[in-house]
Amino acid sequence: PSSRGNQSKRNVYVKAIILGDSGVGKTSLMHQFVQGRFNSQYKATIGADFLKKDIDVGDGRVAVVSCWDTAGQERFQSLGVAFYRGADCCMLCFDVTDARSFENLDNWRDEFLLQVGPRDLENFPFVVVGNKIDVEGKRAVSQKRAMDWCVAKGNIPYFETSAKRAINVDDAFRTVVLNALEQE
Ligand code: GTP
Ligand code: MG
Repeated sequence: PSSRGNQSKRNVYVKAIILGDSGVGKTSLMHQFVQGRFNSQYKATIGADFLKKDIDVGDGRVAVVSCWDTAGQERFQSLGVAFYRGADCCMLCFDVTDARSFENLDNWRDEFLLQVGPRDLENFPFVVVGNKIDVEGKRAVSQKRAMDWCVAKGNIPYFETSAKRAINVDDAFRTVVLNALEQE
C-alpha cells in the first residue's frame, strides 16, 4: 500500500484484485461492497473494471481501496492479467454450488503469484470467498473442504458470502484490506 499524509488523517491506497471463474459472482461482490446493490442479470466482465471505496481503518487512517474486478471467462482472461500489477491483496472467489469453481482456485492463485511476483510469496494477503450461500439445497463444496484448502495454502482467511443478500461481503473485503495494511 502507498500513502499520502496530511495533518488530520492519512490516506493509504490499497489495490485489491478479485479473481475466480466466470459466474461465481465477482462483479456482484464488488457492486455489493461498493454500492450496496445487487443485480440478478448476468453480464460478463471483459478485461477488468474497477471501483473505489474508502474504508475507515479506525487508527486515524483511511484505506482508499481500488477494487479490480477481473474477467473469469477464458477468452477475456489474458486481458485481465495486465491489471494484476501492483496488487496489494487478492480475493479468490468460488461459487459454493459449483465444485469446479472451487477446484480452479489453485490455478487462479498460482497464476496470480506468477504474474505479480510478490517479494513474500508465502505471506501475500489473500482471502477466499465461497459465494452464493443463499442458494438453497445446491451446495457442492462443504465449509470444511474449503477451510482445509485455505489452511493448506498458509492459513488464508475464509468467508462464505452472498452478494445477493449482502452476507459477509463487507467482512471479507475489510479483512483482506486490513491484512494488506499490516504488510506495509
Ligand atoms: P465474469 O464476469 O464472467 O467473470 O462473472 P462474475 O464472477 O463477475 O459473476 P457475476 O457477478 O456477473 O454473477 C454471475 C451471476 O450470478 C449473475 O446472474 C448474478 O446475479 C449471480 N449471483 C452473483 N452472486 C450471487 C449470490 O450471492 N447469490 C445468488 N443467488 N446469485 C448470485
Ligand atoms: Mg464479472
